[in-house]
Amino acid sequence: MSNPPPLRDATPADLPLLYELFSDSLRFDLFSPALLEEKLFANPRPLDAPETGVNATRFGRGERYRVALMEDGRGAIGAVQVVSRPWEGRAWIGLFAVRSDARRRGVGRSLLESAIAHAVADGARTIDLLGIPGNYFAPALDPRYTAALCLLERLGFERNGDCSNLVADLAQLPAVGKDEQRLAEAGIEIRRATRNDDAILDAFFAEHFGAEWRFECELAMRNPVPALHLALRDRRAIAFSAHSSQNREWGFFGPMGTAPEARGSGCGRVLLIRCLADLEREGHATAIIPWVGPIGFYGRHVTCRVERVYWRLRRTLT
Ligand SMILES: CC(C)(COP(=O)(O)OP(=O)(O)OC[C@H]1O[C@@H](n2cnc3c(N)ncnc32)[C@H](O)[C@@H]1OP(=O)(O)O)[C@@H](O)C(=O)NCCC(=O)NCCS
Repeated sequence: MSNPPPLRDATPADLPLLYELFSDSLRFDLFSPALLEEKLFANPRPLDAPETGVNATRFGRGERYRVALMEDGRGAIGAVQVVSRPWEGRAWIGLFAVRSDARRRGVGRSLLESAIAHAVADGARTIDLLGIPGNYFAPALDPRYTAALCLLERLGFERNGDCSNLVADLAQLPAVGKDEQRLAEAGIEIRRATRNDDAILDAFFAEHFGAEWRFECELAMRNPVPALHLALRDRRAIAFSAHSSQNREWGFFGPMGTAPEARGSGCGRVLLIRCLADLEREGHATAIIPWVGPIGFYGRHVTCRVERVYWRLRRTLT
């Protein structure tokens, strides 16, 4: 494009334009305007919010979100999201797309270069693709978006691993009542978390899985019915599983984790199935188990298969 129109910062008021662009461009994904709005604008942990600011310890410090939009008289030509954590020297390129009639004219390159420049200005030393903490559309790039892959490689991104999403069939989940009884006899209580469990959760995540998962569990707790289940021994958490912290329309499971001393007790399986049963009750026929992880564990306990494979891409910024 000889003189591409300037970029401007997009706001939630631009959602109709952005939805038209992204729903046309992301042809391997199905999502509503509400889900797109969550990904682009509903920063769940804004960098400067008092709860997550400089002294935050409970949920970790947050991220800065930005969406840049290029438009003409017919709508959005292209858009790119960039998210940064200045305090950690990290940034992420989120969703990006160019309208199909404007491709191969340098728009994609200029969008990504501008995103990278913002990341550098925020002090980023690395920039990853997708996988935005606590609010990710996808854990990394589905390589079937091949034009995007080619563009990113051209811009110096390198592949540094892969990950996958499973899809679980919720039609015939096993009953877990007897297992819960057996665990109770062994002194392990299985129950849904409540708002009174904050201190238990703080202690558990401080010891085992850290602020990132503590924060995802907080998001799961904000559902009308808390989407978090716990295993407890002597009033201390030893395992958890969560769902619906984001991407609710996809039937989104996770995260889950068991403290090392409780592994092998069977509570992980029960907690997994409790979450999937919640999703089934909410009307989902299938659930996404994202960004796994121990495929063998899920494969043993529920009917599931690898549904998507993602390539992780990172560029080191100098
Ligand atoms: C990926 C995408 C943004 C590229 O936008 P674009 O404006 O066409 O990209 P550019 O014109 O700036 O291309 C820059 C370079 O990228 C590479 N590239 C872009 N499209 C390519 C394609 N279809 N095949 C191979 N290489 C390609 C080329 O090296 C190209 O340079 P060249 O034209 O000099 O050969 C666009 O194809 C798109 O919107 N795809 C769907 C959305 C998507 O995949 N998003 C990523 C997931 S969030």
